[in-house]
Amino acid sequence: MFESIQAMPADPILGLIADFIRDQNPSKIDLGVGVYKDESGQTPIMGAVKKAEAVCYQVEQTKAYIGPAGVPEFNEGIRALIFGGQHPALKSNRISTVLTPGGCGALRVGAEFLRRCSDEITVWVSDPTWANHMPLLGSAGLKLVQYPYYDRDKARLRFDEMLSALEKAGPGDVVLLHGCCHNPCGADLSEQQWRALTDLAEKKGFLPFIDLAYQGFGRGLDEDAYGPRLMAERLPELMVASSCSKNFGLYRERVGSLSVMGTDTSVGEAAVTHINSVVRGNYSMPPSHGGAIVATILEDADLRQSWVGELDTMRDRLNGLRELLATKLSAASGQDFGFISQQYGMFSFLGVSPEQVRELREKYGIYMVESSRINVAGVRRDNVDYLADAMAAVLRG
Ligand SMILES: Cc1ncc(COP(=O)(O)O)c(C=O)c1O
Repeated sequence: MFESIQAMPADPILGLIADFIRDQNPSKIDLGVGVYKDESGQTPIMGAVKKAEAVCYQVEQTKAYIGPAGVPEFNEGIRALIFGGQHPALKSNRISTVLTPGGCGALRVGAEFLRRCSDEITVWVSDPTWANHMPLLGSAGLKLVQYPYYDRDKARLRFDEMLSALEKAGPGDVVLLHGCCHNPCGADLSEQQWRALTDLAEKKGFLPFIDLAYQGFGRGLDEDAYGPRLMAERLPELMVASSCSKNFGLYRERVGSLSVMGTDTSVGEAAVTHINSVVRGNYSMPPSHGGAIVATILEDADLRQSWVGELDTMRDRLNGLRELLATKLSAASGQDFGFISQQYGMFSFLGVSPEQVRELREKYGIYMVESSRINVAGVRRDNVDYLADAMAAVLRG
């Protein structure tokens, strides 16, 4: 059976990690891997998470199966975090939420649910988008097409072109949107642009599916949810995939959620019966540990406050690094890197060629993926000058 299979080429990110570990350069910098890092280069467990874990350890009475929708308190808490506790769609019970194994689980389960709604669905994804969107949605049998989103040469959004492309989307179509902190480009829609897009969705009747993987990493917990909240107020239907990997630092616990909003309570409830059946046919039910941690934090006023404080610190660090990096890169190279300070989240493109990316790696030990997407959190105040000087040297050629 297995004789015919050939080993697949190494995953580019995993290959990069292995090369980085082997590299003996004492000044090496990892800008490739997509996890948040603090000033010492670590990805520590958040204090609120540690405390919530201790609480869970004390109160947990059973390890019996939890059911396909996961931890009910998590589902309620995360839904309020995404949409805001007082959201009209939430108050009228139009949104149903289930716990999923990470944002990836939410995207995949959401994709299979969409397949059950129709065989003919086309999903519009941004050009560029997170590489994993393609297998997560495509392997569920959905057809993918791209809409223009970001101009790498001019380092700016292609919003007008995006709107014109989506003029062609209609009621059978799904438009995948990044809620905030776009991965890979960091360029987010302004509130005005979200409003224009919502007008278009209303006019054309396409279904927005919002991937909210970085809530709290851009402008703030509420600000980063502006798009989903607005769309949930104005549109009849919506789907949101969220992740707790970054904002709770729970990467390996695999915690995320899928929310489906329908025109009334019965639609959301019917959707959940299908989602539960998709889950049963995949992994049967999600792990509960991470969901219990998040629920404990969101339900306890003190833990919640300390989590929000830690999240604020991470966001401030990222935004501070963006300012610093933009200033240092512009000063060292004589080129304008100001766009980095106007973008949000962990990722931005430096806008250099694959050859220059290779030169940065081979000559200076600076690691990033071939597209020149960098994880801003990989920069530190004590290595930003080294990075800026290396970039300037590579740009001079
Ligand atoms: C855009 C985007 N969506 C979803 C995810 C899902 O992450 P996870 O499955 O770890 O929650 C990520 C993680 O990097 C992401 O960047």
